[in-house]
Order: sequence, then C-alpha cells, then structure tokens
Amino acid sequence: MNQAELHRNLATDLLKSVKKADKNALFQQRLTANLTLIQDLFFALYPESQHRKTFTKLLAKLPSLFDGRPEVLKLRDLEKMREGNWYLSEQMVGMQLYVDHFNKDLKGLKDKLPYLQELGINFLHLMPITTRPEKENDGGYAVNGYTQIDTRFGTKKDLAALTKKMREEGMYLMLDFVVNHTSDEYPWAVKAQKGSKKFQDFYYTYPDRILPDEFELSLPEVFPETSPGNFTFNEEMGKWVMTVFNHYQWDLNYSNPEVFLAMLENLVKLANLGVDVVRFDALAFLWKKLETISQNLPEAHQLISLFRLCLQVVAPGVILLAEAIVPPKEIMKYFGEGMYRGNECEIAYNATFMALLWNSIATRETVMMRKSLEDLQDRPESSTWINYVRCHDDIGLGFDDRFIYDMGWNPGPHRRFLLDYFCQRLDWSPSKGQIFMHNPKTGDGRITGSASSLLGLEKALEDEDTDAIKTSVSKIIMLHGLVLSYGGIPMIYAGDELGALNDYNYLKEEAKKQDSRWVNRPWHHWPTIEKELGKKNGIVAGIYAQLKHLITLRKAFPCLADHNNLDLLDIGNEHVFAFERRGMESCGIIVLANFQDTAQAIDSTFLKNLGYTKKGCLQDVIKGEKTKLNSGLLEIQPYELLWYKQY
Ligand code: GLC
Repeated sequence: MNQAELHRNLATDLLKSVKKADKNALFQQRLTANLTLIQDLFFALYPESQHRKTFTKLLAKLPSLFDGRPEVLKLRDLEKMREGNWYLSEQMVGMQLYVDHFNKDLKGLKDKLPYLQELGINFLHLMPITTRPEKENDGGYAVNGYTQIDTRFGTKKDLAALTKKMREEGMYLMLDFVVNHTSDEYPWAVKAQKGSKKFQDFYYTYPDRILPDEFELSLPEVFPETSPGNFTFNEEMGKWVMTVFNHYQWDLNYSNPEVFLAMLENLVKLANLGVDVVRFDALAFLWKKLETISQNLPEAHQLISLFRLCLQVVAPGVILLAEAIVPPKEIMKYFGEGMYRGNECEIAYNATFMALLWNSIATRETVMMRKSLEDLQDRPESSTWINYVRCHDDIGLGFDDRFIYDMGWNPGPHRRFLLDYFCQRLDWSPSKGQIFMHNPKTGDGRITGSASSLLGLEKALEDEDTDAIKTSVSKIIMLHGLVLSYGGIPMIYAGDELGALNDYNYLKEEAKKQDSRWVNRPWHHWPTIEKELGKKNGIVAGIYAQLKHLITLRKAFPCLADHNNLDLLDIGNEHVFAFERRGMESCGIIVLANFQDTAQAIDSTFLKNLGYTKKGCLQDVIKGEKTKLNSGLLEIQPYELLWYKQY
C-alpha cells in the first residue's frame, strides 16, 4: 500500500462529503502519516548533525504552503483522493502541444478546447509557458521564472481562465517542473554572477578546473554537438559552473538543502496554477557525484520521493510524471523501490516502448520488443506509463543490449543501422528523419523527425506514390493504435493527429538552427486544417478520422484502463506484435499489429483458447464486424492493427 492509498483509507469518513470535509484536519492527517518518511529521507540526504535547523524550517514550511493553496484546488484534491487512482482510467487520452504553435496563446488554446474534445483528448501537456531567455532557451526548458507566464503566451489570468474551463470540462493539465536546472538569467543565477556566495552555492560552482576535470572523467555529454562538456566558465562570476545540458542551463546543487526548500516552494506554486500532473523534467540528473555518470543515483531517487511526499501532504491531488529517458531497468526505479515503492512518481514515460516501436518499424520484427517489454512488467499497481509515438524530443536508442544480443545482433552495428534507416542514409528506406547529436567519439546519435515523416509520408507525397502513401498512413495508425491500447495514458503529439510532416523552418532561425528537434515541432495552421479536414477522402482527414475512431473505442473498453492487466503474447510470428488486455468478466481485448510489409498468416488457436471466438468468428472492434475463421489461420495485412474483443 503506498502513502496515497493510506491517506485515502485514513480519510474515508472525512471524505464522505468533500464539500463539508475539514481540510485542515485532513492536512494534519497526511502530515502525520508522511512525517517519518519525510524525516528519514531528509536526513538521509542532509545529515542530521548539520541540518537539523533546515529540517525545522521544512516543518514550518509545509503548513504555510498548504495555507497558500487556493480553496478550489484544495477541494479538487479531496475529490481526486476520494476517486482513487484517477489517472489509470481508460478515459485518459493526452495531447502534448506547444501553446504558440497550436493556436497562438493561452486564450487561443482555450478557444480550441472543443477541437481537442472532439478528438477525445481530456489531458493536456503544455510545453513550457514560463519566462525564459530571449535568445536560446531550449524551448523554455531554460527557466527564468517557475510560475511567471511569458507574455508571448498571455497572462496568469489567461492561464487561470484556461484551467477553470478545463476543470469544468473534466480535463486534466500537465506542466513541466524543470527541476534540474535554471537558466543563467534566473534570479539565483544572477545573484551568483554578481558574487553572492549564498547563491553560488545554489549551483555547482568552482574557482578552477580541478573538480570539473575530475567530473568530466565520468560524465557523459547530453548535447555533445552544441554544448560539449559539462561546465561553462562564467566571466562575471570568474568561476566554472556545471551545465550538463546547454551552457545557459545551470544545474541546481541539491546537496544544499536550501535548494530543496526553495524548489519545493516553486513546485507548490506551480501546482497552485491548477496543475494535475507535474512533469519532473530531466529528474535522472538531480544528484551529482564524482566518479559516476551522475544519473539515476540513489540520492536522486530519495530526493524525488522527498518532493513527492511533501507535495502529497500539501496537494494530494497532484501527481508526478518521471521524465527519465534512461535505460529501461532504471526507468522502473522512478516508481519507487523498497519502502518507497509507489511513493516516487506515479507516471513515467514509456520511452522504452516508444523506442522499440521505432526499432520494430525498421527491423519489421517484434520479438525484441516483446522480450524487452516483458522485463518491465513489475510496476506498483498505483503506477502507470505515458505511452507515446513521438514527442518534442529526439528518439534515443536506449535499449537494453541484452535483448539485441538475444536477436543475434550486435548492439553497435544495430544502432547504426537504425540511424541509417531513419536518417536518410539508406536509399530504400522511406524515412526522412535527421540525425541528432551525433557523437563522433562514440558513434552514437539520436533521431529527430515527425512521426509521419519518419514513417514515410513525406517521401511518399514527394514521389506522388499512392501505395507508399497508403502504407505510411497504415503505419501511423498502427503505432497510434498500439499506444492507445497498451497499458497507460496515450499521449498524442500535436500535429500527429493530422499527419504533420517535418517542419524545416527552424533552419531560418539563428537560435534554433543548431537543434534539429525543432523539425518535429510543427505549427497548427487552422485555415489549412479546416480545408483538409473538409476533404472527405483526403489523407489528413483520413488520419484524423481513424485516430478519433480509435480514441472513441479506447474509451469504450474498461479493460483498457491500466490495472496491470497486460499480457504480452508470443503467437509464433516474429512480425506480429500481440498482447491481451485482460478484462473483468471476460471482456478483454487482444491487440495484434503486423510490422511486416507482407500479409502474415497466423495460427488462431490462441484466440480460441483465450475465449475470443464464438461459432468460429472473431469480433473485430475497429471494423465493427465479425471475422470468420475459415481455416484456423488468420490473415493480417501489412501494417494492419486489429483489436479483437472477448465475447
Ligand atoms: C528534457 C526535455 C528536453 C530538454 C531537457 C533539458 O529532456 O524534454 O526538451 O532539452 O529536458 O531541460
């Protein structure tokens, strides 16, 4: 039982009438229930002998943070507590978008909520909307203020109007908490540059290269092309500062407990904007230690749990998403381990599944995907994934090498093949991706490009090749159909619902042209969209309609809620990926997807054994018809997606 469930149980009586519930009493109850764990974590990170006083400060801070939480959100917290693990529901369907790329600003977004609802979206991840440096700012991931809204998006009032409307419509909001670093223009960084010792200690600053050089011996590089090395010399301060990401993103020094306290306050203020899910950005990097890669360290996990348990006391309705794009086994740890199982992040990006989908597209086989995913089944029951095809970042090839070897392949050449396949280095590949952060020292690289361009639509349109267009559309739908049915919250990347292609305009902008991730950050041009959606047999309208159909279906099947009810199936065909979402009272769904460009005949006995046939027929829910199994073999077309329902 995780702490959230414990709170729920303790509060059962008080929560009977949420409106009348004594919010302060419930706060005290949560504080009491979490306090020992909070204390334990705090002193594990910050030894009691030196940091008793800071701990006392934390104790005083929690009630004052609770006092500052708006009443309407306190009420919402209690509603969510009563509801239980609301984020596991099959009704959850997300979209990630850039507010300005989508419809100008926050007001524009509010106007377009009906478009999103029409598609079936009830959960939004808005890319950073807070203040950032004028020039390079990593798409807002260089933070000048954690809760100040950048004027290009509107005002705090606009955001409040949006969140109010979203709450009324039963929609959920996710915003980023860039927890690992601030920009070099953030007030703390500015004070540090002006010579404040106190604020220099908020970052990792060094008078010379001795420690930076020692760190460099083991630290990898995140952006080796544009921001090589992990330290930047700041002239004004006359010191080196740790900058693991870009030179203008300063890593926060969490070995200083004052940083934790100040960031906890920023976190709560962010939550107070009406956020339901906080995306903990780059959280794997939170703790730094010499002689390590300074990622996924045990202290980072303790720190995240500490944030988790404090936030839960103040705002129990707000949950955390781990943005940990790290090896599969490491991702799992962000759900919490040991006595902290279920007490770290409720959600994590299923970056492994995402990368494996692309791996299967290139290799046309699915065994590696099945085996790798089997290894990731043991999650706390309160946890879930965000499943996605594309996001604003690059696609990293962070597979577990064991499973590449298992296939009889070699990890190095295999990864190079994937880069070649997706990044226009193979004549026969339909893909139009770009290579990102190629590291000549290691040969590593990642992939950028929109889903549709990576799946061949851009090339097919250029070649006016009708068959290739059809194939790429099938691939687009198949991948989305998989993330819509796999256990977790599907997160559709804005533009993908319309088959958006690569956007090369970033090359014209000085502050963006070095970062090819901008190629997959498309703009919604509404007059064109309206025109395209009006064309009954058009490509865009087709993609949109099929996706909408799948979303509607997802919401109609309670077995697609995430109750750890997923069985990966080995059906004896390496090209067909298969899984069952077990349902209560025999209403499960079996999902099949053919990654090969030829039709596959599969033995249907397993469907019969699992109870999916009646009088020799299967119930195909996507087509809404029965499929007669004449010979016992089931044919699945190239890149076809099938959902069969138990009946
Ligand atoms: C996350 C974001 C990415 C950003 C990085 C640094 O990985 O997704 O876009 O560059 O954090 O903040």
